[in-house]
Amino acid sequence: MNKLHECLITLHNPVAPNHYRMVLQSKDIAGHSSPGQFLMLEISAGYYPFLRRPMSIERIFSDGVSILYKVCGEGTKILSTLSVGEKINVQGPLGNSFPIPKEYQQYLIIAGGIGVAPFPALVEKILNVRGVAPEIILAGKDYTHLLCEKDFRQMGCKTHLVTEDGSAGDMGLATDILKKLNITGPTIVYTCGPLPMIKNVHKICIERKWLCYASLEAEMACGEGVCLGCVVPAKIEVENEMMARVCKEGPIFDTQVILWEKIGE
Ligand SMILES: Cc1cc2nc3c(=O)[nH]c(=O)nc-3n(C[C@H](O)[C@H](O)[C@H](O)COP(=O)(O)OP(=O)(O)OC[C@H]3O[C@@H](n4cnc5c(N)ncnc54)[C@H](O)[C@@H]3O)c2cc1C
Ligand code: FES
Repeated sequence: MNKLHECLITLHNPVAPNHYRMVLQSKDIAGHSSPGQFLMLEISAGYYPFLRRPMSIERIFSDGVSILYKVCGEGTKILSTLSVGEKINVQGPLGNSFPIPKEYQQYLIIAGGIGVAPFPALVEKILNVRGVAPEIILAGKDYTHLLCEKDFRQMGCKTHLVTEDGSAGDMGLATDILKKLNITGPTIVYTCGPLPMIKNVHKICIERKWLCYASLEAEMACGEGVCLGCVVPAKIEVENEMMARVCKEGPIFDTQVILWEKIGE
């Protein structure tokens, strides 16, 4: 399939301070996308910013996909100024997707802040293929950083809220809730968010013998495995080095594959 698409922006709304949802029209992208994959957006047709910006696919519709993003620098600031009716060049879908192994009856999603972005599509897929609603831990600095709560509840997910300042749900971190959950039996955990959170979720999953898949982030240039700009140390050999390309072998990794001791925070 052609990976470059001129997509019409059909919706672009603020959803929280500095956070936006954008719907991009493209039957081609929608028809080839799976939860966990991402898109590279050409923010402007000129040279600034030069590189495309990677964004997870939030939801997959029949004629397009949505993204959910946080304004954190120049690229996302410019992105936030685009209007419905404008077009944007999109490369994708790229990368791998979340595995949904059928031996697992319990699915637990742990999202920190904007790390929630890939999960609405995953919940829809788990509901479709397994008929089970995953349990969710939604964590953020404060209540404004808890996104998609309503969507998850509407999809039937038991959703635990936790904020660092206690402004919504429990006060604390995602891992505080994870440690308290009374889950037994084969469980698969999916996580995305700040790296320290992912590392700690991974450690808890190892202790409990749970399988854990994380969606990782890295700064990217080509998005298709060529430039080696997005590598992380891993128990995988790529170009004679123990590493994985987040854009190609990832962004979804079994957390046991990552060499966490070699990654700084
Ligand atoms: C596979 C993948 C999926 C992503 N999905 C989403 C998403 O769904 N929603 C969302 O809001 N963001 C997502 N990101 C992060 C997003 O790509 C960056 O926030 C964005 O590129 C920043 O661009 P900028 O020009 O606004 O910021 P810049 O001016 O480039 O940088 C601002 C700050 O953000 C940091 N940053 C830049 N690029 C990245 C990056 N790729 N990952 C982490 N930090 C970065 C910089 O180090 C700097 O501190 C994803 C990243 C990857 C790799
Ligand atoms: S961004 Fe070029 S190899 Fe991943």
